Amino acid sequence: MRISIIGTGYVGTVTGTCFAHMGHEVVCVDVDPERVKKINAGEPPIYEEGLEELLKDHAGKNLRATLDYDAAIAGTDISFICVPTPTDADGRIDLRFVREASRSIGQRLKNKKSYHIVVVKSTVVPGTTSGVARPILEQESGKKAGEGFGVGMNPEFLREGKAVYDFQHPDRIVIGADDPKAAAIIRQLYAGYTCPVLETDTKTAEMIKYVSNAFLATKISFANEVGNICKRLGIDTYKVMEGVGLDARISPHFLRSGLGFGGSCFPKDVKALIGKAAEVDYEPLLLKTVLKVNDKQPEIALRLLKKHVPDLKGKKIAVLGLAFKDDTDDIRESRAIPLIGALLAEGAKVVAYDRMAAGHMKNVYPNIGYAKTAGDALDGAEACLIATEWKEFEKLDVEFARMRQKIVIDGRRVVDPRGKDIIYEGLCW
Ligand code: UDX
Ligand code: UDX
Repeated sequence: MRISIIGTGYVGTVTGTCFAHMGHEVVCVDVDPERVKKINAGEPPIYEEGLEELLKDHAGKNLRATLDYDAAIAGTDISFICVPTPTDADGRIDLRFVREASRSIGQRLKNKKSYHIVVVKSTVVPGTTSGVARPILEQESGKKAGEGFGVGMNPEFLREGKAVYDFQHPDRIVIGADDPKAAAIIRQLYAGYTCPVLETDTKTAEMIKYVSNAFLATKISFANEVGNICKRLGIDTYKVMEGVGLDARISPHFLRSGLGFGGSCFPKDVKALIGKAAEVDYEPLLLKTVLKVNDKQPEIALRLLKKHVPDLKGKKIAVLGLAFKDDTDDIRESRAIPLIGALLAEGAKVVAYDRMAAGHMKNVYPNIGYAKTAGDALDGAEACLIATEWKEFEKLDVEFARMRQKIVIDGRRVVDPRGKDIIYEGLCW
């Protein structure tokens, strides 16, 4: 099939490249000329495991990027909208990019003879595809959805760092469509997949995405709440969750307690769902608490640190890990951000290390130290805080000898203290 991808962030780039790898003709459209140039040169605009190889295989063959909306819509039969859906200050979703993309596509459908499908893949609150994108597409094209063109919603469940794998090995594919013709064509696109394919209307598909993320975030905050209790009881919460996770109704996944969840999805999507609930006059107590528990974890880490270093003023504190999780350079909503903010507020001298994300964090905290290695960050430090679950931190040992005091506050359960000459404190264990 001939596919156009609108917006080449981590969702758009991974989706486009994987569709090309399935043999489809793909055109990526973005407003950012730098990203367009990179993609056409076979360079991924974002870091994702396995993406570079795939992009190199297909860029310039059955995958290309362009700024040219006209050519992209005229030359394809199905468009995926993958533009950002940030939340505004009150936590409500900001749909301006979805509106803009719908307008741009709608204008191009006006003179298009053949049938075209527009599929929303960005995470949007329920009712957006049928209540925002479709009316704009109809108004701009002068055509009726379900006749001159089709509309669908096909949420992604991609984890950063594992997005290519997740696209190629989904647990399920959700196809939201308000007309059977659009549903059938989107289903055809995924013809080779063997996982369950769930067909619903667009509103339900939108809600499935939010509820999936909200539930995973709730599992993590639940694990952190239990972890905070276990810590005070002197019980290892990971052992507890091992036993709990053996219950097939619960599953062992997403029960790792620690510094909390970050990233471009969980915080934003839980907030947007809370915002949507308020719109329909419902107060989501549980979802609000999920965020409160998450916001508290960095504070608890600081309190643990101060148990060992009561006065942080002028003290060198190493922060190991800046990305919101391992295997990514993304710092969006990383728990390291409030942690470093609290350390600076206490007057500490922060030196941070992250193998990939330091560049991005320099935009947030230009005035802290950035070390080239974990060992350098630990050099002369009074204590260190581990904020990201990078595998390399599991191997730390001799490096701790470079510290002034070997105090290690582990926010991600990556250091095994056994046999190490350190003062070790697990956040929830
Ligand atoms: C986005 C949404 O933020 C997320 O909610 C959704 O689940 C998936 O898509 P992401 O891929 O991370 O996530 O977005 P981002 O990395 O911000 O990239 C969006 C891309 O769209 C950027 O390349 C940007 O230049 C581009 N864009 C933005 C457009 O092409 N047109 C616009 O009008 C706005
Ligand atoms: C998430 C969803 O997993 C994915 O399906 C969706 O499409 C986008 O949002 P992502 O944000 O990339 O993906 O990260 P994920 O691997 O889910 O981790 C999210 C955060 O939760 C990270 O900060 C991670 O450190 C934290 N986490 C995860 C925990 O604290 N404990 C866990 O057990 C799992």
